[in-house]
Amino acid sequence: MIAAKTKLCCVIGNPVEHSLSPQMHNAAYAALGLNFIYLAFTVRDVSKGLSGLKELGVKGISVTIPHKQDVMKYLDEIDETAKKIGAVNTIVNKSGKLFGTNTDWIGAVKALEEKTRITGKTVAVLGAGGAARAVIYGLKQNEAIVHVFNRTLENAETLKKEFNLAGAHFLGDLNLISEMDIIINTTSVGMAPDVDASPIPMACIRSNQIVFDIIFAPKNTRLLQYAKVQKATIVYGYKMLLYQAIPQFELYTGERAPIKLMEKILKGLK
Ligand code: ATR
Repeated sequence: MIAAKTKLCCVIGNPVEHSLSPQMHNAAYAALGLNFIYLAFTVRDVSKGLSGLKELGVKGISVTIPHKQDVMKYLDEIDETAKKIGAVNTIVNKSGKLFGTNTDWIGAVKALEEKTRITGKTVAVLGAGGAARAVIYGLKQNEAIVHVFNRTLENAETLKKEFNLAGAHFLGDLNLISEMDIIINTTSVGMAPDVDASPIPMACIRSNQIVFDIIFAPKNTRLLQYAKVQKATIVYGYKMLLYQAIPQFELYTGERAPIKLMEKILKGLK
């Protein structure tokens, strides 16, 4: 029952009304009988939002678009991984001090590993924004050969230098994309409501490729529809959402996350 000792966790972002995290975390708390509650807060001013949550003793704070970079300025401590990625998606309140880390890269790696080995594989990362940084960090940790493809070449070049990647290319370099073992979309192209768009055409997908779209709304993005037609192996974006939430849950509560249940919630919400 919600009472004076109930611990609060939340996700902050703007917009957050469509977040699937509250259902996922609350179902897990209920299943384990934990005295926790998880809410979603629309936050415009990160500085004010975080100082309020800190004062209220909120136990765990998940961070989503557009605040993953901004929050870093207001934390007491940030781990090396989040510093290298340049973004925090997870904040834990440890005795009044806010500690920032990043679990997005774990989500991307675990989602991929359900379908393929990563080490030694050539990967086309589409996009060079914040999401790409976490995905690329995870790929490099697993010794993949990473090429980044982006609409603005300059942004791809920046990531190439920073993460010591194999190549930086225009998003239109379709021949090269079609030669990679794995294609990962980290751009926002195809995200609801723009559901008819795909970052690349169907013709550059081959049957022996793995195609992973980190977009989870809609579940079947146009890119994944193309990949299915081409008989490629697909990885859904909701898997990354699930696997980034598992370490968050464990950091916030100190308990093992009920993964199967959390996955069922995400699937049911589609
Ligand atoms: P996020 O944090 O979600 O990664 P971001 O940092 O704004 O968001 O990055 C968005 C990425 O999607 C960028 O790589 C962007 O390309 P640019 O660097 O050229 O801006 C890419 N992107 C967004 N809209 C796009 C579009 N219509 N076509 C191609 N790429 C697009």
